Amino acid sequence: MGHKQPPPLFHDFLQHVLLLLFLSLILLFPHLQMHHFASCNTTSGEHVGCLDVEKEALVDLKQGFTDPYGRLSSWQGQDCCKWKGVECNNQTGHVIKLDLRNPENSYRFGTPDNFYMIGGEISPSLHQLKHLQYLDLSINDFDGKNIPKFIGSLRHLRYLDLSSSRFSGTIPPHLGNLSSLSYLNLGYNYGSPRLMVDSLHWLSGLPSLTYLNMDTVNLTITYDWLDHVNMLPNLQKLYLGGCELNNLPSSLSFVNFTSLLVLDLPGNNFYTSIPQWLADLPKLLTLDIEKSSIQGFISDALGTLSSLQYLDLSMNQIDGKIPRSLGNLCNLKELRLSSNNISGEISDFFDELSKCPNNSLESLLLDENQITGSLPVSLGSATKLRTFGVRKNRMNGTIAESMGKLSQLDQLDLSSNFFKDVVTESHFANLTKLTFLDLSSPSEKSLVLHVNSKWIPSFNDNLRGLKLSNCQVGPSFPSWIRTLRNVYSISLKNSGISDTLPDWFGELSGLSDLDISFNQITGRIPFEFRLNQSDSLSLPQFPSLSTLFVTRNKLSGSIPSNIGRLMPKLLVFDLSMNKINGSIPSSICELTQLKVLVLSDNELAGELPQWCWKYLQQLNYVDLGYNLLTGKLPSSLILLSSSQILKLSNNKFYGELPSSFENHTKLQSMDLGENGLSGIVPSWIGSGFPLLKVLGLHSNRFTGEIPSQLCSLSRLQVLDLGQNELQGSIPRCFGNFNAMAMVQRDIDTIGLSWIGVYSSYSLVVSVTLSKGRELNFTNNLRLLKSVDLSYNDLSGDIPQELTKLVGLNILNLSMNHLEGTIPEKIGNLEKLEALDLSQNQLTGPIPQSITSLSFLNHLNLSYNDLKGRIPSGNQLNSLYNPSIYEANPELCGPPLANKCEGNETTERELTSPRNKDEDDKVWIASFFASMGVGFVIGFWGLFGILVVKKSWRHSYFQFIEGIIDRVYVFFAIKITQMQG
Ligand SMILES: *[C@@H]1O[C@H](CO)[C@@H](O)[C@H](O)[C@H]1NC(C)=O
Ligand SMILES: *[C@@H]1O[C@H](CO)[C@@H](O)[C@H](O)[C@H]1NC(C)=O
Ligand SMILES: *[C@@H]1O[C@H](CO)[C@@H](O)[C@H](O)[C@H]1NC(C)=O
Repeated sequence: MGHKQPPPLFHDFLQHVLLLLFLSLILLFPHLQMHHFASCNTTSGEHVGCLDVEKEALVDLKQGFTDPYGRLSSWQGQDCCKWKGVECNNQTGHVIKLDLRNPENSYRFGTPDNFYMIGGEISPSLHQLKHLQYLDLSINDFDGKNIPKFIGSLRHLRYLDLSSSRFSGTIPPHLGNLSSLSYLNLGYNYGSPRLMVDSLHWLSGLPSLTYLNMDTVNLTITYDWLDHVNMLPNLQKLYLGGCELNNLPSSLSFVNFTSLLVLDLPGNNFYTSIPQWLADLPKLLTLDIEKSSIQGFISDALGTLSSLQYLDLSMNQIDGKIPRSLGNLCNLKELRLSSNNISGEISDFFDELSKCPNNSLESLLLDENQITGSLPVSLGSATKLRTFGVRKNRMNGTIAESMGKLSQLDQLDLSSNFFKDVVTESHFANLTKLTFLDLSSPSEKSLVLHVNSKWIPSFNDNLRGLKLSNCQVGPSFPSWIRTLRNVYSISLKNSGISDTLPDWFGELSGLSDLDISFNQITGRIPFEFRLNQSDSLSLPQFPSLSTLFVTRNKLSGSIPSNIGRLMPKLLVFDLSMNKINGSIPSSICELTQLKVLVLSDNELAGELPQWCWKYLQQLNYVDLGYNLLTGKLPSSLILLSSSQILKLSNNKFYGELPSSFENHTKLQSMDLGENGLSGIVPSWIGSGFPLLKVLGLHSNRFTGEIPSQLCSLSRLQVLDLGQNELQGSIPRCFGNFNAMAMVQRDIDTIGLSWIGVYSSYSLVVSVTLSKGRELNFTNNLRLLKSVDLSYNDLSGDIPQELTKLVGLNILNLSMNHLEGTIPEKIGNLEKLEALDLSQNQLTGPIPQSITSLSFLNHLNLSYNDLKGRIPSGNQLNSLYNPSIYEANPELCGPPLANKCEGNETTERELTSPRNKDEDDKVWIASFFASMGVGFVIGFWGLFGILVVKKSWRHSYFQFIEGIIDRVYVFFAIKITQMQG
């Protein structure tokens, strides 16, 4: 039978009743109002609704305020009780509530939007509103003013919110007179200097307080903050995030604030362990002490907080295991322990949790710890789990098939571990809601994904992001990817695929990021697949594709002549290290959003499009090196946006540098080495490129003198002019290269980070130095400082000024006609790792100071006219190789056989002599060890689960801590928007 509609008659009846009710309300309403006014008048004997004195006070208040958006425009007329934000007692007419909170509650990047702000002065007349119970001035802009003391005289206040209004200075202890106060919010006042307090003793005057928020107030000098807070027996919610607190006592003689439900202390500097007294807060629901330098173990005591629903201890220095007792917290919904030093296995925790009759765990984040072992079978009992991240741990065991039972799972990040297992269909059996899956490993293919070629994953409609880099997925191309209808981002980097690319890729029309780099994929490049389908010729095949990484495969074929229309949204296009041939079509200039173009190490030939590069206004990273490209450099190839890198080295370009290159004013790296370029080194390079850090013109046919204007490149760190036909002397002003004259590491190195919605990439700048030594560096690695003028026709002496470049790592002046002596102060170049002055006409002695070059690994002084005894001592003794001094007839002493005349008594004691080549290898190997060659793509983890924060204020803490964290904020916001 089920539900029945009411019969029509009954329906009509109802309508009539409602109508009658409505009419009687309208009729009654004025009567009620009259009654109210009358009673108001009779009890107070003052003006109806609003008292004059209070009205005057409000008018004063309005006059003190600035109100550019007219939020107080209703503040006129007799009855101030009707003004917006004002509320009166209906018996006495007194103003009891003043709510001027900005309705536009929006914060971006830690600074308030200037929207609907009230500002200016808070008139002292405010204290005339003696009956005020509720005062809210939050989310306005009082521009660094102090919180007025007279607020302390509003003794009936129960609710006071002065948050996010840029108050500054010391919080007046007068607030301690507000003995009825239940709610106090002074958080997020980041006026400068920040709001602070001398002492919190005044809190003892607020026994009714249930809510206290002082987020970001500078409480650094209140060592006894906890004693004062502990005196608040009714306190339920305490927020002291980012308060510069540095004292968290581990014990309390008496725990008084047992009503506490929320304890929120993130972003402080406690340098202590998790306090014992937490176990005496039985009602606690939320505990957040993230990013506060908490140390030591997680104590078992936390396992007794049986009400706890949210526990966040991430970004601390916690070590030890996750205690089994945490598994007793059957009400826990979110557990965040990311970015600590937690070790041991997690099976105990899950085993214990599986004993809960009904566990609540929805989110478990353990990223960036030292956790080992396996994902246990008991994982399958956490059936409410939606977010699970153990990224970047040391888990080296297996993954239980019971994972396939987590039917609510939305985000799963097991990346950057060392699991050794074969993952099959059953691991994903019921994961129907999965939207993000990351099983990437750091390097080895120890995790194997082995599924039937006909598999249709249960999550095929929901998955948005898939990352399987460094997993063994191949050798065949995984055909189930075709079923992922809504996939947005795919990485199959280095996943052992040696297959031709399937022809269904164009069906994944929502694809935005595709990375299939570092495989053995053969065949044509991916965008030509659907060319045979008649109707697709004119349509974009990858309408959403924004990043395409195909580097290091065996793809062949040429770049299609209509590339611009096939992938109109492309931002990052990397086809490097394949076998792509043909020329670069001018259609590439239709990719108007392109930022990064990397086509290096292919077989591209022919001339570049000459005129159209100017349409690529966003381009800031171009690497076309190691191809067979020829012709003159296009004068339109000028990078206009910031942070630019231009690499055209190892091709067959010829002709002079186009004078239009002068307009590359934001260029940071220009590498044109190993081409056939000729003409002079233009002087405008010196004046036009104030940001230039790398200039590589080596192995070309440049002639003339080195222009002294180059010396104004104060940020230059790599100057490579080797193997040209340069003449004249080395400009003395080379000593002005400020960046090379600084010893400290350059943190602000070259590079490019690109942040997508789910991933970020950072690109490596690589510079080819003369003699085939290719050095790569990323943002994280140091940028070498190097001057190479070798293989030219330079004459004159070595300027003493070069010894000012004390940050230099490499100095190569070999194969010139340099005369005179080696500068006496060569030892000042204390960071020098390679020094080559061979094959010149240098005379005089080798300066003794050379022995103070303690990092020197490579030295060559051969084929000169140097005289006298070879200095000895320190690092020089380890370069015991006669060939580095050979063909200097008048040099003497070890390691040469040639004995010095006179006192030859001292034979050096040497460690076992090493061969020069070996030294060379060690030296180069040490660069490559940590760098990896070529292109490095640094993902942040597909999901950034860690950064999806529960509220804005966490983002704020990140914001105030610098660039890296600013990226983090940006990322967090992106994610938030995605979810919103
Ligand atoms: C309020 O009461 C006073 C006298 O008590 C009277 O003069 C005045 O008219 C009353 N006002 C109203 C609106 O009833
Ligand atoms: C007066 O206000 C009190 C509480 O603010 C409310 O409970 C009461 O219903 C109001 N009376 C009238 C007549 O509006
Ligand atoms: C907090 O206050 C202390 C002491 O007054 C001061 O030294 C410190 O610089 C302040 N910190 C911030 C971030 O304003």
